[in-house]
Amino acid sequence: MARRCRIGVVGCGFFAQNHLHSWKSLAGEGAELVAVCDLSEEQAKAAARSFSVPAAYTDMADMISNEALDLVDIVTQVNTHQTLVSMALDAGIATIVQKPFGLSLAQCQEMLAQSRATGQFLAVHENFRFQHPHVMIREILSEGRIGDPTWGRISFRTGYDIYAGQPYLRAEERFIVTDVGVHVLDLARVFFGEVRHLSAELQRRNPDVKGEDTATMTLRHRSGAVSVVECTYGSRQQPDPFPVTLIEIEGTTGALRLDADLKLSISSGGTTEVIDTDAPVLDWAERPWHVVQHSVQVTCHHILECWLAGVPASISAEDNIKTYALCDAAYRAATEGRNVRPECERP
Ligand SMILES: NC(=O)c1ccc[n+]([C@@H]2O[C@H](COP(=O)([O-])OP(=O)(O)OC[C@H]3O[C@@H](n4cnc5c(N)ncnc54)[C@H](O)[C@@H]3O)[C@@H](O)[C@H]2O)c1
Repeated sequence: MARRCRIGVVGCGFFAQNHLHSWKSLAGEGAELVAVCDLSEEQAKAAARSFSVPAAYTDMADMISNEALDLVDIVTQVNTHQTLVSMALDAGIATIVQKPFGLSLAQCQEMLAQSRATGQFLAVHENFRFQHPHVMIREILSEGRIGDPTWGRISFRTGYDIYAGQPYLRAEERFIVTDVGVHVLDLARVFFGEVRHLSAELQRRNPDVKGEDTATMTLRHRSGAVSVVECTYGSRQQPDPFPVTLIEIEGTTGALRLDADLKLSISSGGTTEVIDTDAPVLDWAERPWHVVQHSVQVTCHHILECWLAGVPASISAEDNIKTYALCDAAYRAATEGRNVRPECERP
């Protein structure tokens, strides 16, 4: 019989619903959702009921000692990540943690060091690079259809009420850069490569939130390319592109542009081709969330395949810390008013 992966999901709140659906859908690929855990017994039991999971826990330590788990998927808020990741790694279990990886670069470094020391699989659930339009853009770039990328803009601007689903975001001291900025900075790495230095302007445009809700960042990549990476939850634009990331990339021989309707224009050699990059609507998904929901399942699938093959995920802790270092550099750049090299770029 093909190898199975016995999975326990920790945190059964807002975003975990997408993970629970994904793991259930991946049953045919070897995923076996055997336990769920939430501090709230009601939430844990509700998830177990909805997704036919045999066991529900309110304490991750109990779940670990009672179940023979292969993989723990942590979908709690960032203030709990290090404690829970550390507990799972200590128990010798492969671990996935939602973004943002940790509360600080130091925390991320400690988790990475622990996974290296124990030789444990540790992945960060970074799903934007697995959104269907972004996968297609990556393919077009790797085929050289616009030559070498030299300039780009990656833009996530919305006025959608994200606080309705995630009220805790109002109180985050480090807010948009580590919330959605981490995703768009990851895309910048994927499209243009590693970053030599960056500058950042941060704004708090909504007086009812604690941290910055707008970030405008300029990145110089090692390749020489420059990218403008921006995000806001305070946009007044209509129509609002939410939840689409708008992307423009100029290369040495052509250019591409992803619009809010998910149409991708690719210009090269005097002609422009327009292709549809919309994602399939999975049987558990609904518009307009379907692109994000599809990306969560693709991310889970990628991690599962890597675990089964015994290789690190492309979104390993090792990789994701480079994206986290960009967030950290953006805060320093904004505070110090200058270009900053990300931590992993320092001599
Ligand atoms: N990748 C994305 O696109 C995306 C989108 C939204 C949220 N997220 C991330 O998902 C994570 C969870 O966010 P959310 O909005 O679902 O939060 P949430 O507060 O809705 O859910 C978190 C759940 O974890 C539970 N919990 C907290 N501590 C626990 C512990 N020690 N043991 C067991 N359960 C515990 C809480 O009771 C809660 O039910 C965050 O890191 C967030 O940034 C990612």
